[in-house]
Amino acid sequence: MAPTILVTGGAGYIGSHTVLQLLLRDFRVVVVDNLYNSSETSVQRVKELATQSGRNLSFHKLDLRDGPALEKLFLSTRFDAVIHFAGLKAVGESVQKPLLYFDNNINGTISLLKVMANHGCKKLVFSSSATVYGWPEKVPCTEESPLVATSPYGRTKLVIEEMCRDQYCADPEWKIILLRYFNPVGAHPSGYIGEDPHGIPNNLMPFVQQVAVGRRSALTVYGTDYSTNDGTGVRDYIHVVDLADGHIAALHKLDESSIGCREYNLGTGKGTSVLEMVKAFEKASGKKIPLVMSGRRPGDAEMVYAAIEKAARELKWKPKYGIEEMCRDQWNWASKNPYGYGSPRNNH
Ligand code: NAD
Ligand code: UD1
Repeated sequence: MAPTILVTGGAGYIGSHTVLQLLLRDFRVVVVDNLYNSSETSVQRVKELATQSGRNLSFHKLDLRDGPALEKLFLSTRFDAVIHFAGLKAVGESVQKPLLYFDNNINGTISLLKVMANHGCKKLVFSSSATVYGWPEKVPCTEESPLVATSPYGRTKLVIEEMCRDQYCADPEWKIILLRYFNPVGAHPSGYIGEDPHGIPNNLMPFVQQVAVGRRSALTVYGTDYSTNDGTGVRDYIHVVDLADGHIAALHKLDESSIGCREYNLGTGKGTSVLEMVKAFEKASGKKIPLVMSGRRPGDAEMVYAAIEKAARELKWKPKYGIEEMCRDQWNWASKNPYGYGSPRNNH
């Protein structure tokens, strides 16, 4: 029998792309999501893209903090492993509403781990973030770089990482992989699924995409005086399909004996500035992106990119795509779905 994977937050941006890759590799997938930041349409589209394998996907609208509902699900299905994406991720919002973030992200994870433990499901892949490196003193960031929380959102990632390490220490039968994503961008090459943030996008590429389709007038460039080649911030952008494949590699790693609780960076190992990214997107889309040069965004680091040797060595995973493909696929998705999964009325 094909392994059955529970994917929390599987209707979201990274989750939907990962679910598709899982189905294409013959896994059975159960998605739980409360649709707080997503739409069931993404699940439907993944099903269609997976063609025959789409029948191996089921969806439950469920909040992770609803322990009894999770319990019921685990009673009805035996899961081989869990990929845990569900969480809130807006850094600015987390500063305004820290309790919302602690409750959703931390309590949601506690609820999940408890039910997994009750049912003897002890294999977990968790979505951590490069945010745990804060403003790194040295780049590239290795998995051993110092960890720091620079926002309540980042603190939830650090706390959940620690919870996972503690859970493994308490019961060494657990196998846990903490994936620290750098900056996921792009979309599936079909242009049928992609990122669809609610409200005003916080992140660079969703904003650029909305300028390109005419929903916003200009991109504000936050900071032009960094010690980088062109003065703008540098990040490690990674194609979301490469990131999704990193999860499959992690699942295979969970099949090895006694891996314990391990951390891996998922990035490309290359830094790209804001202006370089805008230029690549303009080339891919043929659209001019008007810019407004502005001061630094509070809390932003100057330069963040990943050391990816550990993932290459131990997960046998390497990213395949560069920024040209990221921008090409982002534009393909944006031009086909200028309002994401919704209609103009539902978007601000
Ligand atoms: P997303 O918002 O598109 O997906 C998260 C999904 O989780 C959403 O569909 C949301 O409705 C769901 N969800 C949230 N709280 C829930 C709860 N209590 N119960 C059930 N479902 C819930 O975000 P994404 O970009 O796909 O990110 C996925 C994960 O990766 C998150 O944990 C995020 O913190 C992490 N991450 C994302 C990025 C990024 O730039 N996108 C970078 C690093 C880490
Ligand atoms: C942000 C979060 C980080 C999170 C990551 C992925 C902050 C402070 N950090 O990181 O915790 O893990 O998203 O979700 O929010 N930029 C602009 N104009 C914009 C938007 C961004 O110039 O409208 C610049 C930023 O200053 C930065 C780069 O683009 O230099 C990338 O920004 P963004 O996409 O928000 O990602 P991060 O800052 O890496």
